[in-house]
Amino acid sequence: MPSTRTLALLLVLLPPFAVAQDPATITRVGGSEQGFIIFQERCMTCHGRPEVEHAPPPELLRAMPAERIYEALTKGSMQVHARDLEESDIRAVAEAVSGQLLGASQAGDAAHMPNRCRADSAFDPSGRAWNGWSPDVGNSRHQNAANAGISAADIPKLKLLWAFGFPGGSSAYGQPSIVGGRVFVGSDNGYVYSLDAATGCVHWSFRGDAGVRTSVSVGPVKGHAGVEYAAFFGDVKANLYAVDARSGRLLWRQRVDEHLAARMTASPVLHDGVLYVPMSAWEEGAARAESYPCCTFRGSVSAYEVSSGRLLWKTYTIAQTPQPTRKNSAGVQLYAPAGAAVWNTPAIDPAAGALYFGTGNAYTEPAAETSDSVIALDLSTGAVRWTHQVYANDAFLVGCGAVNSENCPKKLGPDRDIPASPILVTHADGTRSLIVAARPNEVLAFDPDNGGKLRWRVQVPRNGNGRGLIWGGTTDGENAYFGLSSGGMVAVSLRDGTERWYSPIAPGSHGAVASSIEGAVLIGGLDGVIRALSTKDGSVIWQYATDREFETVNGVKARGGSITAAGAVITDGKVFATSGYSVIFGKPGNVLLAFGLDE
Ligand code: HEC
Repeated sequence: MPSTRTLALLLVLLPPFAVAQDPATITRVGGSEQGFIIFQERCMTCHGRPEVEHAPPPELLRAMPAERIYEALTKGSMQVHARDLEESDIRAVAEAVSGQLLGASQAGDAAHMPNRCRADSAFDPSGRAWNGWSPDVGNSRHQNAANAGISAADIPKLKLLWAFGFPGGSSAYGQPSIVGGRVFVGSDNGYVYSLDAATGCVHWSFRGDAGVRTSVSVGPVKGHAGVEYAAFFGDVKANLYAVDARSGRLLWRQRVDEHLAARMTASPVLHDGVLYVPMSAWEEGAARAESYPCCTFRGSVSAYEVSSGRLLWKTYTIAQTPQPTRKNSAGVQLYAPAGAAVWNTPAIDPAAGALYFGTGNAYTEPAAETSDSVIALDLSTGAVRWTHQVYANDAFLVGCGAVNSENCPKKLGPDRDIPASPILVTHADGTRSLIVAARPNEVLAFDPDNGGKLRWRVQVPRNGNGRGLIWGGTTDGENAYFGLSSGGMVAVSLRDGTERWYSPIAPGSHGAVASSIEGAVLIGGLDGVIRALSTKDGSVIWQYATDREFETVNGVKARGGSITAAGAVITDGKVFATSGYSVIFGKPGNVLLAFGLDE
């Protein structure tokens, strides 16, 4: 059973998702990363090798619908290569390679939903909003009182208002955005939806090429007749889209990265007519397989002009293009340098004309000096202003510790990352800090006005099993709050990193990203429970279990599951959250939930 073995390795090793978890809770589902691993191991022995005649290159397979790949493996010419694969593995390959879920293309369309909004009302984005990954471009993920429309004292009174099901979905990994009284949310079924925030009725759906895991940003565009505002998002095949925010009609799309393994997991950030787009990949998953030409992916951030979709600049995290190094004994050419994916949304610093982001580990030796680093770029040119490497010599490929492969780095790991979005804060005295969470258990603060000089660096929590800073935190201007995949949540002072409190919350992972309003911080758990904690002492003031079935406004059978990546958003008296995550680990689910107060 190769699947179980690889899955076990993944759980231990794969960044930035690694968490300690009871294997009994793992549910195999389609669309999981597992499919990439099988593809790299077994299919790239032919696909991607010019000497194997007629085998379509991986890029061509990537462009095929999930159904066609599935057919080839179950009924067509590829049956022999899938003979010993389980049905669930075959599905996973078809879904991972195509970026689509089998059977979701029809079912997901809003045209089939009973709860269409009656009138195509005007769209007015002024008013309360949570637009994109964070309400501000500094990534505070803090909603101010005016926009929140709800106080910490109200939180215990929150009730479920409505639920929306993503048809055919198994990971509700998109984070909703709320703009102009509408919810914009992507799904692994390949659709982005626009819903009414009050009732959940559906305005439109848009289907791109693949699952959409990024949050959606809404902003003005010019030069498209009759269109004032566009919604921007990216998919897990590295495509960037702009659609009319009112109707969902496509305005433009761009392929941000040509690499076979490129995928957008972190959300682009919109600022002043430009989209800044971070790029990650799944190359690391099974590049250890000697059939795979390891490694050629480099992380990047690109800037696009929002109206035209024109590329303004693209900066790779590793300046040098990968060069051929040696051939392994399978005759496969290897390359270096590679790695340093960008798993996080950059923080924008309009005052300094800069943006900041973190990078993941390297894939090849010697590890690039910009791997596991914090990088500052010039906002208008993309030129590198400064870099700070947090962990040196970290060349890592998943599974290399357990298998003997010539593709593996000689000195492996230790497998770190800067997976979380950096947070830019201004202190009471006007000085500023860039707060960065590094996996597994450190928080650092840099001075963005002093070339990125390190201000402080602390381990969290100070006492106890600190592990698993993953998707990031939130700040209320006084403390930063981070959930930990090893369990619990920690609050540290922005001034000097002093630990204010550690709350164990409940057993299990809390690696998802946090969000806050004055007095309360929200965090989802692998157990599917959304909790609100008091920012004063970390005590739980509200909780809601989502790991169950829900009646939905669109009549789709839906359930919640694990919450491990995206976070809750708070706007206009309501809280919105998605539940279900089964990328590598976790419990699947396909639901969007809206909470509010009784009228
Ligand atoms: C031994 C070499 C080899 C291996 C291993 C292999 N393929 Fe292929 N594949 C080919 C060749 C050659 C073709 C083109 C001719 C054909 O369709 O038989 C092809 C065609 C395909 C097609 C296109 C079918 C169509 O509808 O046009 C798909 C999809 C595909 N392969 C998927 C896979 C997947 C997924 C795997 C791994 C589970 C895999 N292949 C393993 C050699 C291989």
